[in-house]
Amino acid sequence: MNQFARITAIEYELPEKTLSNDELARDFPEWNVEKIFSKTGINVRHIVAADECASDLAFRACEKLLNSGVVERSDIDFIMLCTQSPDYFLPATACILQDRLKLSTQCGAFDYNQGCSGFIYGLGLAKGLIETGQAKNILLVTAETYSKYINPADKSVRTLFGDAAAATLVQATEDGPYIDRFRYGTDGAGAKNLIVPIGGSRHPSTLNQEPDLYTDDSGNTRSDADLYMNGSEIFEFSMTRIPQLFFSIFDQDFTLDQVDLFAFHQANKFMLDSLRRRIKLPVDKFIAEFEHCGNTVSSSIPIALKKSLEKGVLVEGKTVVGVGFGVGYSWAGCVIKW
Ligand SMILES: CC(C)(COP(=O)(O)OP(=O)(O)OC[C@H]1O[C@@H](n2cnc3c(N)ncnc32)[C@H](O)[C@@H]1OP(=O)(O)O)[C@@H](O)C(=O)NCCC(=O)NCCS
Repeated sequence: MNQFARITAIEYELPEKTLSNDELARDFPEWNVEKIFSKTGINVRHIVAADECASDLAFRACEKLLNSGVVERSDIDFIMLCTQSPDYFLPATACILQDRLKLSTQCGAFDYNQGCSGFIYGLGLAKGLIETGQAKNILLVTAETYSKYINPADKSVRTLFGDAAAATLVQATEDGPYIDRFRYGTDGAGAKNLIVPIGGSRHPSTLNQEPDLYTDDSGNTRSDADLYMNGSEIFEFSMTRIPQLFFSIFDQDFTLDQVDLFAFHQANKFMLDSLRRRIKLPVDKFIAEFEHCGNTVSSSIPIALKKSLEKGVLVEGKTVVGVGFGVGYSWAGCVIKW
């Protein structure tokens, strides 16, 4: 009998500590609260404590999901973790989570290093595992703590990113398909535009030596061990590639009027408003859920879906188009039938 992959539950976790626009405006007096909000649409971001890792957020998101009773813990047969802020270079954080969550030792587990396209990639992989009979109950976990890579004196990224994790249950069902029409794209020529330049094997961090700080033309200070973002380049890439990706999802069998909701990566207001206008999508079908958490990288789409569920906007039978894009450059889209 055919098995089809379906999302059956989502939970997410935000760290307790917050970073408000008031605090940012105090640190960067050239940008006031209104300016930050009108550009980004973000009021508050959540930031992990010094001793808190992406896996701690991931653990709490997974515990919420497993304790909700939607699935037996012992039935989880695969856990995949999307993160660019793992606990260690090795081993995979997904293995640590398998143990911490007390999942079966017959459970597959792996990490993948993907950013804002990571949730859609995870759905695509989960579909592959389920529809080829390799798994039945998959925990797709996204968890990121970019704050650990952000220099406090760099307003270009500090205003945008927030830490978060999300746990999504993807299960086998007999009717379907529920997730489909996956499209992927990659352009590694854009790698330099969103990067932590040193710390890996190419440019190892030098032990006992602080990397040099520099200040850019906009007055942002960082070192090469910090996150660097060229916002305007990423904006240009997104405005070109994402409409192309979006329209490639549709054909004569699946048309725009069949879509109830659009769940794009929740980058920020400026980016999403621009994309929505460029693609000409109606504002009431276009999910915008970043005010309370900022750009949470790979967790932004599952958080947006969960918020829409809680608000009653997303209900059974609705058809959603999900689109993720960013660091890599990497982009991906798919259709999710709820
Ligand atoms: C970062 C981004 C919001 C900056 O917008 P931009 O219009 O390209 O920024 P510019 O540097 O040209 O500045 C334009 C104005 O916006 C302001 N601005 C830029 N970033 C801002 C921010 N985070 N908060 C408040 N104002 C901001 C500038 O100060 C400038 O104001 P002015 O006209 O009063 O001088 C935009 O480039 C963007 O969304 N890029 C993609 C970022 C992203 O999504 N990254 C994650 C990968 S998914």
